[in-house]
Formats: sequence, structure tokens, C-alpha cells
Amino acid sequence: MAPPSRNYNSTASPSVVDRLSLVSGHLAGRNQTNISNLSAVNQSRTMSSQPPHPTLLIPGPIEFDDAVLKAMSHYSESHVGPAFVSTFGDVLSMLRKLFQTSDPASQPFVLSGSGTLGWDLVASNLVEAGENVLVLGSGYFSDGFADCLKVYGANVDEIKAAPGSRPQLPEIEKALKEKKYKVLTVTHVDTSTGVLSELKNLSALVQKVSPETLVIVDGVCSVASEEIAFDDWKLDGVVTASQKAIGCPAGLSVSMFSGKAIKALESRKTPPASYFASMKNWLPIMRNYEAKKPSYFATPSPQLVHALHEALTQILQKPLAERFSKHKEVSDKIKQRISALGLKQVAGESADQAHGMTAIYLPENVKGTDLLPILAKKGVVFAGGIHKEIATKYIRFGHMGASILQPERGDVEKALTALEEGLAECGYKKP
Ligand SMILES: Cc1ncc(COP(=O)(O)O)c(C=O)c1O
Repeated sequence: MAPPSRNYNSTASPSVVDRLSLVSGHLAGRNQTNISNLSAVNQSRTMSSQPPHPTLLIPGPIEFDDAVLKAMSHYSESHVGPAFVSTFGDVLSMLRKLFQTSDPASQPFVLSGSGTLGWDLVASNLVEAGENVLVLGSGYFSDGFADCLKVYGANVDEIKAAPGSRPQLPEIEKALKEKKYKVLTVTHVDTSTGVLSELKNLSALVQKVSPETLVIVDGVCSVASEEIAFDDWKLDGVVTASQKAIGCPAGLSVSMFSGKAIKALESRKTPPASYFASMKNWLPIMRNYEAKKPSYFATPSPQLVHALHEALTQILQKPLAERFSKHKEVSDKIKQRISALGLKQVAGESADQAHGMTAIYLPENVKGTDLLPILAKKGVVFAGGIHKEIATKYIRFGHMGASILQPERGDVEKALTALEEGLAECGYKKP
């Protein structure tokens, strides 16, 4: 995508010029990385029409496809006009396919907001103050979900696993037998550790031991990189966001709820504990959009919805199974290269390792604060650690979406080479 400043001539006011140069600087990553030679960071991007920029390989936001970014420069249109309503309706229908639900009682929602809004949706609509929720703790993000639930008055019990692992079925079964829980939450991929939770057997256990409990998944770091079979696995809610494996810019909260979850909403004794996040307010709007009828509760972002439309159209062009197996194949290769370097992953067991990101323990004498800027100079942006017990000891490599599905970009090889060279520059010698 051309930098916005190219569309303006010298008659633009200085403040506009300043703002535009800030925007293009941000797009090029200059604010973060101070890179002077941008051609060095863009060797692999000659096919892209985006300005040169360091390759963003954090666990979300991810690198975007050109067509998705271009979809955002849609001209302004009425958010209740037939064209936009039709686009929004198509987005909702496509989400049913992405989540693999054909149950007409399931309900997709797309709201302006980030992934965190999904937590508020669950906490303010599916739980009433004083009701019990069991949170499966696998890291920073499951702790955040627990905090959000408490804000709305839920009575939260958390089964916390050590960093790099996840709660196991026997302890979950014990907890479910000891107390009645309205909701159980699980973080499918905890982005702080790269730990993948298994959903199918977990949900089967809940159906067996406590079938009335709603199974709610935080899929912010998993939807579109890990399989989610919403109907087959009898899930009641998956909340996610636009900016990770879906491959759309940040700004949309995307979720799917089951008929059972909608019944729980409709049979509340008290009103939803939020106004903007009230699913009672949004439910008729989402139903109307899908039926291509104009409707209004609060103004959506047409440009982001266009980008999501393009991203979902691309995702659904090929069988989902192919997408998931490609993420797994590349993830396996990345993890092998990391082991060959003598490095360990935060997620200890291979069955617990996500396929859209890898959290990598640093060698003893290498600091993330030294390594990450070296990688940035090589045109690769990784993220630091955020799990509070081990934050300084590891880094995170996100490998989702375009960087995986468009191998001609060369993003993964560029990142692995930068990592090998960067570690050597930090004095690390592989064993
Ligand atoms: C698993 C998980 N849940 C929730 C969130 C919060 O999403 P957001 O930052 O978009 O609000 C994130 C963000 O990275 C996440 O990775």
C-alpha cells in the first residue's frame, strides 16, 4: 500500500504533513526500531506494495496481505446503507464457516473493540454477580480473563498451571464435581507462553460431569491458526480479535456463541452488566445484518469490516484443514530449528505447543533486551516475554497468517537466520 503522504501535495497544511509522516513512520516501524537502511529490511518484500518495513513476527498483530490493507481504503458509505449491511451480513455468514458451525442457533458477533472486549462480553452477559466461574489458568491472558470476570462480580476459581503447562483433565474434573459452575473458561493459546490447550476432550469432560456449564474459549491467539470445531466440540463461546491469525488490522472483537449461551443471556435475572458490551443490545443488530436488514445500535467501522471481509474471503478460499496443517507444518519446522540451536521452548510438552507462535527460552547469558534490538536491526520484530514469573527469560516469535501461507515472502527463513546470527552476536555458541 502506498504511504498516505504520496496522495498529498505541498499545499497540505504543516500539521497534516506532520501527522501523515508520523503515520508512514509508524507503518515503516521507524518509531520502534530506528532503522536507517530500510532496503536492508525489505529484501523479501519486493512483491508487496507496502512501504519497506521490518517484518512483524510478534504473536499479533501480524503481517497483512496487501488486499486486506487495500480493502480498508474503501470510500465512505452509510453504516445503515444496503451495500454496507450486505458486506457486514456476509462477514457474519463467513464467520460461521470459520468457526465450523452450521447450527442456526449459534450467533456470531463483530463489534468495534479489541480482543479484551470478548472477555467483557462473557463476563457481563453470561455470568451474573455471585455466580461461579472456573478459569483454567495457563498464563498472563487467562489471569486477565479471571480479573475481568471478577470486575463484574463473578465468583472466580482459577486452576493455575506452572508456566509452560496447562491444567490437566483430572484436576478439572475434580473441581467440576466439587462445585457447580455457570461457566468454564479456557485460553486456547495463551500468548504469554505459547501453551495450546486441548478443547475437544475438555469439552467432552464438561458434558459428562457438568453438562449445564458453558464452555467458553479465549481464541484470540488461536482462531484461524488452530482448528476450532464449534459444533462438534460443543463449545458455547469463542471470543477472538481481528489482528492475529485472521490477518485483519486490530480493532474488531469477533465472537461466536451457542444457542445455549444465548439462552443463558435471555434468561438472566438481572440486565447485562454493561451497555456497549450488552449482547441483548447487539443480538437483534447482528441478526438483522445477517438478514441484510439495516439496523443500528452503535456505529460500526465500515473500513475495518471491509478489511475483515477480505481477510475472511481469503481464508475461506481454501479448505480450512489445509490452513491448519500448513500452520502445523511450518511450526514444526520452526520448533526443530530452535531445538537444533540448543534452545528450549516455554511450552514443555510438544502436545501443548501452539502452531501459530513459539515462546523461546533465552540461553543463560543472553538478555532479551540485547537480542531483540539486534533482530530489529536485521529487519525482524519479535516480542519479549510477558509471563510475570519468567518475563526476562524468554522471547516470543509469532508465525501466523500471511507469513506462513505466502512462503514467497520468506518471512520465516529471514526470522530464523536473524535469530541464529543475533544469538551469535550476543556471544552464544550452540552446543
Ligand atoms: C489470548 C489473548 N487473549 C486476550 C488478548 C487481549 O486482546 P487485545 O489485546 O486485542 O485486547 C490477547 C492479546 O494479545 C491474547 O493474546
